[in-house]
Amino acid sequence: MDLIVRDARAHPTGDRYPEPVDIGIAGGSIVRIAPRGTMRAAGGVPELRADGRLVSPPLVDPHVHLDAVLTVGEPRHNESGTLIEGILTWAERKRTLTHDDVKRRAYEAILWEVAQGTGLIRSHVDVCDPDLVALRALLELREEVRDIVELQLIAFPQDGILSFPDGPALMREALRLGCDVVGGIPHYEWTREDGVAEVQFIFDLARETGRPIDLHCDETDDPESRFLEHVAARTIRDGMQGRVVAGHTTAMGSYNDAYAFKLIQLLRHAGVTIVANPLDNIVLQGRFDSYPKRRGMTRVKELDAAGINVACGHDSIMDPWYPLGRGSLLDALSMLVHVAQMTGRGELFRAFEMVTTNPLRSAGRADWGVREGAPANLVVFDCEDEAEAIRLRPAARWVLREGRVVAETEPARSTVHRAAGDTTVTFQKSRGG
Ligand code: FE2
Repeated sequence: MDLIVRDARAHPTGDRYPEPVDIGIAGGSIVRIAPRGTMRAAGGVPELRADGRLVSPPLVDPHVHLDAVLTVGEPRHNESGTLIEGILTWAERKRTLTHDDVKRRAYEAILWEVAQGTGLIRSHVDVCDPDLVALRALLELREEVRDIVELQLIAFPQDGILSFPDGPALMREALRLGCDVVGGIPHYEWTREDGVAEVQFIFDLARETGRPIDLHCDETDDPESRFLEHVAARTIRDGMQGRVVAGHTTAMGSYNDAYAFKLIQLLRHAGVTIVANPLDNIVLQGRFDSYPKRRGMTRVKELDAAGINVACGHDSIMDPWYPLGRGSLLDALSMLVHVAQMTGRGELFRAFEMVTTNPLRSAGRADWGVREGAPANLVVFDCEDEAEAIRLRPAARWVLREGRVVAETEPARSTVHRAAGDTTVTFQKSRGG
């Protein structure tokens, strides 16, 4: 045994307050899980004392734009707050990108995410650039950060494939250089027909290259934007079930219920994963509305209830689209449960899967989890269970990758100074006498 995590409450707790366990780790894997206090080991094996805290698989960020992170205000702020002004501001900033600039900012954001318990990041990379500056930088960084996180890169055509000069060639080149996943943005093409053609192109490219697909789809409040049905249909026809992810799909928040019902059945049949990005979309969507003002998020609760794999991404961290953010998937998930009204007791536990188990499955890492035989990729959070993780967004006490502690955080403790003496505040509900 190389390491033992003592006295941890193992995910999924499922609201059952399961008995704490000890977790034995050797050779980068979980080799044994036993009731608390029963695991014996030879002297000298290091131990982490979880003291009844939650241990879960790492958080996953299934949708972020690492090439754009930390560029807020460059060259100017997005004063209208719209998606379009964000894209136009980014187009200007993109002209000044350099290799080192991209690597430095992306690395900083990766450290923020890892420190908060993220073990796998899927990043879109804008490939609408004849020199592919950002892509070359992130391909290098992907290898350099392998000791702390798995980074998967998506070839993302921010300005369209058919609507951007040499768009198809740039997509092909991005895949040839080593992108892991084929991206897309059909709703942003100049015409509806071009959007449909783009969907056909990215499925052809996925077939040629053997890569999965993860596209931006219908990120608009326009109820006429219906490219997701084309994505689902091609997924079924190409036998790509389980290998296709559609991000945003906010138009679903504006579809009529009859069409949404049909689409949800089709998505289930197709095994398409839907990634909601509530931090960005709660501020970007509904911008053209007076009142009532739409929430502009995809139908998270209904998709989840229908058995569709749903995940939650951070999307932006201080960029032209969203000036806030600190790389916390639990911040994003907190926003999701508010916007989707998933505050029922059981719903909070289901929501936690949207930043762990569900995106692990769509990223091809379903083997990660708190199980014997799984890679020892784990996080001990400073809380008791998954619902409390969403409420507190607690410190990731220890973050493990293949059995090695790659980040640790001392939980914050406040002290209130009463006349009669000091009281410590942790924001954890006391259990009474
Ligand atoms: Fe995005």
